[in-house]
Amino acid sequence: MFAAHAIDTSDKPRFYRELATQLEGLLTGESDAIANAANTSALLFQAMPDVNWAGFYFLRSPDELVVGPFQGKPACVRIAVGRGVCGSAVAERRSIVVEDVAAVENHIFCDPDSRSELVVPLARGGEIFGVLDLDSPTPGRFDDDDRAGIERLAEIYVAASAAF
Ligand code: SME
Repeated sequence: MFAAHAIDTSDKPRFYRELATQLEGLLTGESDAIANAANTSALLFQAMPDVNWAGFYFLRSPDELVVGPFQGKPACVRIAVGRGVCGSAVAERRSIVVEDVAAVENHIFCDPDSRSELVVPLARGGEIFGVLDLDSPTPGRFDDDDRAGIERLAEIYVAASAAF
């Protein structure tokens, strides 16, 4: 059985290297995209301090994201591409870090506790098929080290998982 190990979070690049190793171990031998998304969000939610939502949205049609496996409070189910931080990350084909969601107009409030957010697109063969979304109750929780670290974890998830 897989056991998540406590990781020292004071050195972010090292934290994400260790988390990447744990995620690779967790997903080894399984290619189901939903099962892997469920376990990836559980690992992130357990390992990352100061995070109140961690999970996936998938494009179920070209213009709409639908919530997938996650940890945290129940969330908005459908997000149009171009709307909110998640929809913007798809439309702009890039990761987005929001330091203070209260200062951003194009943010969809699912959990009123969320104050900062990091959204990373999931791509296969250049095609975006979803996003990995992290929320924190602390403004400015996510920085460029988090962006790079979560982008690497998203790559591991995509590589391990079969296309829908
Ligand atoms: N805040 C997101 C919506 C998803 S929740 O945070 C889980 C957004 O603006 O796209």
